Amino acid sequence: MEPQPLKSNIVLILDYGSQYTHLITRRIRSLSIFSLCISGTSSLKSITELNPSVIILSGGPHSVHSPDAPSFPDGFVEYVEKNGIFVLGICYGLQLIVQKLGGKVAIGEKQEYGRMVIEVVKDCGELYGGKSIGDKQAVWMSHGDEAVSLPEGFEVVARSEQGAVAAVENHRRRFYGLQYHPEVTHSPKGMETLRHFLLDICGVEAGWKMEDVMEEEIKVIRGMVGPQDHVICALSGGVDSTVAATLVHKAIGERLHCIFVDNGLLRYKEQERVMETFEKDLHLPVTCVDASVQFLSELKGVMDPEKKRKIIGKEFISVFDAFAHDLQQKLGKRPTYLVQGTLYPDVIESCPPPGSGKTHSHTIKSHHNVGGLPKDMKLKLIEPLKLLFKDEVRELGKILDVPVTFLKRHPFPGPGLAVRIPGDVTQGNALEILRQVDEIFIQAIKDAGIYDHIWQAFAVFLPVKTTGVQGDQRTHSNAVALRAVTSQDGMTADWYYFEHKFLDDVSRKICNSVRGVNRVCLDITSKPPSTIEWE
Ligand code: XMP
Repeated sequence: MEPQPLKSNIVLILDYGSQYTHLITRRIRSLSIFSLCISGTSSLKSITELNPSVIILSGGPHSVHSPDAPSFPDGFVEYVEKNGIFVLGICYGLQLIVQKLGGKVAIGEKQEYGRMVIEVVKDCGELYGGKSIGDKQAVWMSHGDEAVSLPEGFEVVARSEQGAVAAVENHRRRFYGLQYHPEVTHSPKGMETLRHFLLDICGVEAGWKMEDVMEEEIKVIRGMVGPQDHVICALSGGVDSTVAATLVHKAIGERLHCIFVDNGLLRYKEQERVMETFEKDLHLPVTCVDASVQFLSELKGVMDPEKKRKIIGKEFISVFDAFAHDLQQKLGKRPTYLVQGTLYPDVIESCPPPGSGKTHSHTIKSHHNVGGLPKDMKLKLIEPLKLLFKDEVRELGKILDVPVTFLKRHPFPGPGLAVRIPGDVTQGNALEILRQVDEIFIQAIKDAGIYDHIWQAFAVFLPVKTTGVQGDQRTHSNAVALRAVTSQDGMTADWYYFEHKFLDDVSRKICNSVRGVNRVCLDITSKPPSTIEWE
């Protein structure tokens, strides 16, 4: 009897190191299908535990012939066939299927990189349901090797214009392969192919909703945290920790204890603004600790950026320590869990490039917003967002009634304004000047309706004095720089092109209303070569 497909509706991606792997996950989730990505060399046990309906073998930089070529585990083929799981190989994934199932992969005569046209060569092929021989489409290729002989039972469904295999399938064994990347926008019909494959061929039901994710996470948290257990959470004022805390609060109520630390390095009225959201909009139990004197006295005279970060991290730890200690006194027991707003990109295992000497690693982000927590607190972690991407966290936040303006806030670094004042942060009234300039700049961006087009915008206090003339007086005051960047993830960034009139207005407003500033500069460097922050 034919094995029946399992109905978990989970699409599991085995990652072989392609730069596009995470994009496949995202694209599939955008079809309301739950998709997860784990290392391509994961054990069979890790794969079976996830009980996928479909497995996608990603692309990757390796050649199947190289000695360290990553592959699925022994027993994989038997497992998928026995359980009726559909398998789609993309690029390297296709070659892996071909080679492992008895076909042949060789170095292509002509390597194919970039935009190519492929043509359907098999009538009634499943992958392109309905398309007939001669139908063409543009796709994005990136391969040197190619399949030259297919395993028994496999058929070529499409070829490139150069004649190379572009798509294969073995309907009976439920194995499929695309030599190109359907997930990138340069393959305009790629999404249609993926959708058709998952919904029509594999019969996956699209029903993954953020509401379900929320309910599921609440169940998990309730199952994990005992009825007498207490949980702590450090709120940074950012989206991730706020959404994570709101979710945990919904699950366990007042046994969640949050802390927000004013380290003296926050933006204009930040403490009041975020505390208002926490209390009035989200009803979160938050203790606000004003530790600004403690932080700033430790930072006095410190010039080195890394030293500043270390000091800030250490001070955060001492504030948390005191908070946990106070809680223990009050509750008569230690808090057991710590909530972290770790996101999916932080935990995805990816396949390192060959020869890098690296192995797969599951990294849990040390809470970089707060500089890490004392190891001897021995807190167990709750990471309710660890399967979500940033935009999904925003969607979840919306369902949890976190105000949209809050969810769209630009990122703000844990060490705060300290990394925006090169040198000693306590010099003169640098912090106060910076707060005012930053507020004018951000408000102007909001008024111009461009806040959501920008990844991050802020002002920098320049530790130099420049000559100016204000009224009839010569001045010798501070210069400030404005920085605004666009970015997908903060890893690379481009500077934002403001209209001249906007810049003119902002510059005037800053010099006219912030005492101590007589010059405004604009940072027009991308990342690389610069970083987003100045320190
Ligand atoms: P860079 O300056 O490295 O910044 O291009 C990339 C992103 O990370 C933020 N950033 C930090 N966030 N602690 C943080 O929590 C830090 O020490 C830190 N340094 C930079 C930065 O604001 C940008 O979004």
